[in-house]
Amino acid sequence: MVETSQRNDNEVNAGSIDKVIKTPPLHLSDQWKCKQVEDVLSVVKLNGEIIKRIQATFENEIEAGLSDKKSSLQMENTYIPELPDGSEEGQFLALDLGGTNFRVILMHIKKGLVTDEIVKHYHISDELRLGSGLKLFDFLAASISDFVHEYQVHERVIPLGFTFSFPMHQTSLDSGILVTWTKSFKSTGVEKQDVVKMLKDAIHRREDNHVEIVCILNDSTGTLLQGASLDHRTAIGLILGTGSNACYLEKADKVKHWETERHGEKNVVIDIEWGAFGDNGVLDFIRSEFDRCVDDNSLIQGSFTFEKYISGKYLGELVRVVLCRLVRDGLLFNGVSSPELVIPNSFRTSFVSLIEQDSVDGLTHYTEKVLDDLGLTYNDDDILIVQRVCHLLSLRATLLVAVCTAVLVRRIDRDDITIAVDGSLYKYHPRLKHWLQKYIQLLVPDKTFRLLLAEDGSGKGAGLASAVALKLGALQENK
Ligand code: BGC
Repeated sequence: MVETSQRNDNEVNAGSIDKVIKTPPLHLSDQWKCKQVEDVLSVVKLNGEIIKRIQATFENEIEAGLSDKKSSLQMENTYIPELPDGSEEGQFLALDLGGTNFRVILMHIKKGLVTDEIVKHYHISDELRLGSGLKLFDFLAASISDFVHEYQVHERVIPLGFTFSFPMHQTSLDSGILVTWTKSFKSTGVEKQDVVKMLKDAIHRREDNHVEIVCILNDSTGTLLQGASLDHRTAIGLILGTGSNACYLEKADKVKHWETERHGEKNVVIDIEWGAFGDNGVLDFIRSEFDRCVDDNSLIQGSFTFEKYISGKYLGELVRVVLCRLVRDGLLFNGVSSPELVIPNSFRTSFVSLIEQDSVDGLTHYTEKVLDDLGLTYNDDDILIVQRVCHLLSLRATLLVAVCTAVLVRRIDRDDITIAVDGSLYKYHPRLKHWLQKYIQLLVPDKTFRLLLAEDGSGKGAGLASAVALKLGALQENK
């Protein structure tokens, strides 16, 4: 699962980027239609100049965020100053909240590696995701209680790491104030609150006392830690799933925001929260009518701009919005939509991956299946157009991720870096891994790096983070 790049010392300019990212022309039986379709799609194409501009914008936003100036990048200090070094040992509980399932995990860590684990999933209903926050946390506490009783560990106090995959403001390793819900969550009374405190309160309401929350972390941080336990060169954690985010190891002295007393930390993990990149308008130069439409249909309008270009929650919806426009213009499906296609979010991101698989294989059967399931009537040109739309939006998403990741690779003062990645989009999109490798390398030709699939960073990473937190606590007590 590891792809390695060789060093290459060529300088990169807009022209050479253009040559590499060029897409072959679309061929339809109808030339006029082909031109019209390409015109509509031109707004989602990036070129070398735009890529350079995004790169410079991201660099500026990083610097501003790190120095506590106005920025769309939160650049959150996670207070994790070191990565697993192989000395982590013990039994830990991990919680993972971020998607439609809440997971509780009991794991053993030996010599810095998770050796065995028990995982239980608890489904989070729409009512809990969108209703009262208090009820959501009561549910989490009840699930933990169910788990520790089922696996007979309720009579011990087990250190627990809480992976909370949302933007939070941290004042220490074990506090996390929710900045805003993202993805499919919008429960009330949680934003601006410390979610560790909310969880502790819910546990106390049940009069339970079997856990000790030692740290809270983001899933990108968990992925970085899990990656580091597998490959000590890991310095970046990337999530490309329903949501998207990245974190990396920054020099501690570069980070202005530091609320706890420092203990000589040299580095610290920074949670970028890049989903919000552009929320202040700095990325408006790539915003198309399709992006505006996806934003209008979303649960969190006007925020998480970058996430809406790249993540699994939105990629399928973007494709749907573009297809609807092409239908309206009479360029697709003979101008006739279907009741399914007009429903927001009916075009899932997994369809994009399937259709891209057809493009890779030069086939059409997945594309036909998707279009049949959506109740559409199509001809050969329609199939090619749908494949083109999926291709261009996938390419745009990958290029955006590659530009920002390349900025991080360049920033980290090491010649050889492993990037730990997790998330459904990364795992299931047939071209993404290869493209990412290729475009990051294009943008940082002088560095050696590799992408490493760090599966279940949000689970295992929470255990590893707890182990690191306990080690740090012990060190600080002995000082
Ligand atoms: C959240 C991040 C998270 C990412 C991946 C985003 O919506 O804001 O905190 O890391 O999704 O789960």
